Amino acid sequence: MCGIIGKIGKVNCMKDVLEGLKKLEYRGYDSAGVAVFTDEGVKRVRAVGNISALEEKLAGTNLDGRLAVGHSRWATNGNVTEKNAHPHRAGRFTVVHNGIIENAAALKTAYFENDAFESDTDTEVAAKLLDKFYDGDAGRAIRQAQRLMTGSWALGILCDDCPGTLFAAANGSPLLIVKTESGNYIASDAGAAPDPIEVTKVENCEYAAVTADGYTVYNENGDALQKAPLAVAAGALSLDKGGYDHYMMSEIMQQPEAVRRTLEALPDSDFIGDAKEIRLIACGSAYHAGLVGARLFEAVRRIPARAEIASEFRYADPIIGRETLCIFISQSGETADTLAALRLAKEKGAPTLSIVNVPGSAIATESDRVILTQAGREIAVATTKAYSAQLAVFYALALGRSEALSRLPEAIYTAIAENDGKCRRLAERIAGCRNIFFIGRQLDNAVSQEGSLKMKEISYLNSQAYAAGELKHGTISLVEPGSPVIATVTDPAILSKTMSNLHEVKARGAFTIVITTRALAPGLEADVTLTVPDVGPMLAPSVAVIPMQLMSYYTAKALGCEIDKPRNLAKSVTVE
Ligand code: G6P
Repeated sequence: MCGIIGKIGKVNCMKDVLEGLKKLEYRGYDSAGVAVFTDEGVKRVRAVGNISALEEKLAGTNLDGRLAVGHSRWATNGNVTEKNAHPHRAGRFTVVHNGIIENAAALKTAYFENDAFESDTDTEVAAKLLDKFYDGDAGRAIRQAQRLMTGSWALGILCDDCPGTLFAAANGSPLLIVKTESGNYIASDAGAAPDPIEVTKVENCEYAAVTADGYTVYNENGDALQKAPLAVAAGALSLDKGGYDHYMMSEIMQQPEAVRRTLEALPDSDFIGDAKEIRLIACGSAYHAGLVGARLFEAVRRIPARAEIASEFRYADPIIGRETLCIFISQSGETADTLAALRLAKEKGAPTLSIVNVPGSAIATESDRVILTQAGREIAVATTKAYSAQLAVFYALALGRSEALSRLPEAIYTAIAENDGKCRRLAERIAGCRNIFFIGRQLDNAVSQEGSLKMKEISYLNSQAYAAGELKHGTISLVEPGSPVIATVTDPAILSKTMSNLHEVKARGAFTIVITTRALAPGLEADVTLTVPDVGPMLAPSVAVIPMQLMSYYTAKALGCEIDKPRNLAKSVTVE
């Protein structure tokens, strides 16, 4: 949450910083701001809202320079107001920050009791600390401030006395130095800088001094470090909207390729070993992928497995140990609760495996073993291709490679092509409803959880997913005449059971939609039937999720919602 960027080049760089900020907007979009070194010193401009609001404010100012920082905010401390927007300034320091300084209130009382503060943020406390400890040596001030702060931060720092240096410091929040032809960047995500030549991570308690020609990273004692750059991803999947109106649609379309690449890159290695039990721990859609994984491990490998929400797991004093394989699933690799759960599992001596989309991220680095999904950079807040890539990993782990699995990308492609138009038309109808229900059993229930989340997060309609047999124990009271109930039935063994539940809601006036396979479709009674290719019940979640994603996308579009950046959400949740 929150994106930070900074650039120092040989020519003016405001344009590049704004371009980079747009690529980081997925990390938060409550407000945005920039600060730039000009001939008259450091100037900053901030605006509530997204980057376009900032651009409007900047238009006509001619504000530019060779050294600039930028920030897009997901509010944690302090309301969404301009005074709380970054960059924050104190004395000779200007700061952009991602993370939470947990002891900010205590530091404020200890050091600045009588000082006036411009904002309600923890970031301003960091800026004040830097200014307090500054004696002409910015590095020393950074070291002293880092020693006092607790919590997480990635900081981009300008010092009024250093027009040729961009400073950066990190602890627990991602921060990369990216070398490019046109100058050097610091950024929360390497994708914010075009054509990286070299990417280096600033690790916990380290800080860096970046100039137009190079950079030096220091440890907490001020010793210069020899850091090995990270591998720069080659041939990544497209970062633009590919001609679509939204990143989300472009990413839906990239799913066959994301799955194909993930399966290709997956090493043929035994990741499960002699585990007696498996826990799959994650948040959001990654947790939903874990629900599918758990079902598969139990059904096929007969290993007791359960998916757990990371924020619950970490406080549950879980009963785990050497024989419990803990699998952590995360697109970003930096979700705070998932990371904390990983650390807890390690403390308890459990073997850990992570399934992560961002190489070099904290979860990827800290787990015993890692499988990298190859979905490429995902920008839309509502995940699609990363979820699909995670499912592909579970198929390979639980079922092993097969002819059917190698044909999955093609089946996903067909599911998209055959449902796009139908889902667009259906969305017009769904958009007018108050409550939407997704039902299914077993794997169909697991994938329905994801479909329902997609619907509510981008359309803001109330959507719930229920185990089909459980609906009648309460939630059915919410079904009104015309309420859409979307039943997924891909497993012939339990088809008739779920269909009975669908008939129960039909009898109460529901508008019934069934997602099923071509083979099972004939004879199923529903107002609308959406068919997906026959890939077998185990792989079915990957094709069944497609019409769910498309319905959600087109419903949100019909309602005029901000699809790529839904309100109140952020893609990367680095707070508890
Ligand atoms: C946020 C995103 C979700 C994502 C979840 C977990 O809530 O909006 O799309 O599933 O975080 O993120 P992770 O990066 O750990 O997969």
